[in-house]
Amino acid sequence: MGKIKTKFYPVYVGEGLLESFDFNEFGASAYVIVCDQTVRKKVASHLASNPSLRTAPLHEVVVPPGESSKTMTKAEKILRFMAANNLDRYALVIALGGGVIGDLAGFVASVYKRGVSYVQLPTTLLAQADSAHGGKTALNIPEGKNLIGSTYFPKAVIADIGILKSLPDEELSSGLAEVIKHGVVWDAKLFNYLEKHISKLSMKETKHLVEKSAIAKAKITEKDPNELEFRKILNYGHTVGHALEIASGHNLNHGQAVALGMACEGHIANKLGFFNSKDLARQNNLIKELDIHVKQSFKTDELIEYMRRDKKSKAGKLYFVMPLSIGKVRQEKGQVAFEVEEQVVRECLKLLS
Ligand SMILES: NC(=O)c1ccc[n+]([C@@H]2O[C@H](COP(=O)([O-])OP(=O)(O)OC[C@H]3O[C@@H](n4cnc5c(N)ncnc54)[C@H](O)[C@@H]3O)[C@@H](O)[C@H]2O)c1
Ligand SMILES: [Zn+2]
Repeated sequence: MGKIKTKFYPVYVGEGLLESFDFNEFGASAYVIVCDQTVRKKVASHLASNPSLRTAPLHEVVVPPGESSKTMTKAEKILRFMAANNLDRYALVIALGGGVIGDLAGFVASVYKRGVSYVQLPTTLLAQADSAHGGKTALNIPEGKNLIGSTYFPKAVIADIGILKSLPDEELSSGLAEVIKHGVVWDAKLFNYLEKHISKLSMKETKHLVEKSAIAKAKITEKDPNELEFRKILNYGHTVGHALEIASGHNLNHGQAVALGMACEGHIANKLGFFNSKDLARQNNLIKELDIHVKQSFKTDELIEYMRRDKKSKAGKLYFVMPLSIGKVRQEKGQVAFEVEEQVVRECLKLLS
């Protein structure tokens, strides 16, 4: 098991961690596992056989799989479950699942009795390489995705890469999209490694991708935990990506939408004279490896409208992170997200049709 120390929490990456990790180190009065039904079926038995979880009362809350569980209603259900079971402030919330569960359980932990400890046990590549790290928790409301949330760091992120074996291909490519993003905005070596290995990833390579992504995310978060500016570099591909995710009615999953978003936003940065053409082509070659099939066409007006609701948007203007080369983004006087004329954005969105 590899242990990575970061400023806010340790990250453990290895195989068989769900069965063997010693949860006694958290000194919890009780455990509350939060997972979805699919994870319950495919993964939870590994955790159930962990002897260290028998040292305190063990509770479990199961929600339906998918984005529709990231709601106030589900958060309230878990909070009331915890209260009904008289859980005190020393209870440990265990977020066992993908990004949906991590965001939901993390939020619950951050508000139950004004905050109890939680650990992230990510079970998708997207969660292991991205969403479980960095301490952002989130819920959706009808007015928009991730509009409710907190910044609340887990006590640890424990990534058992062995459990990715049951993950469907499109979920793997979703996670790989975020790894490509880490390579483009931060870690050129990670990008080179992906170029070499993306077509054939075994456990060894997957472990490397998760570890390097965890380090990238931790280093970027340490510089700007509350995303005042610098942390926005992790939002590369997400201005267009979030719009695509919503416009597709979630037919495109998060990572797939972000991958297409990076293709568009990379093109914008190139058109404006920032991202060099050779590296843009390298980025797009990796994205092609993800084999994303878009089964619908998108209306530019609709996408622009969704983009205006992006959290980087100021007074209805559109802002983008712009790579210069692989591993390096445009930065000026501490600024990393830059306004782009709507007309330029519209032109680049044509790539999608
Ligand atoms: N907090 C953050 O910093 C951050 C960053 C990126 C994304 N996110 C959020 O993450 C969410 C997307 O995460 P996701 O892609 O992991 O989605 P998800 O949690 O919905 O998981 C995807 C699907 O895979 C299933 N699954 C999970 N683990 C499995 C396994 N080992 N084997 C088989 N099936 C498994 C789940 O049941 C689900 O159906 C979005 O809500 C997004 O907003 C958060
Ligand atoms: Zn993302």
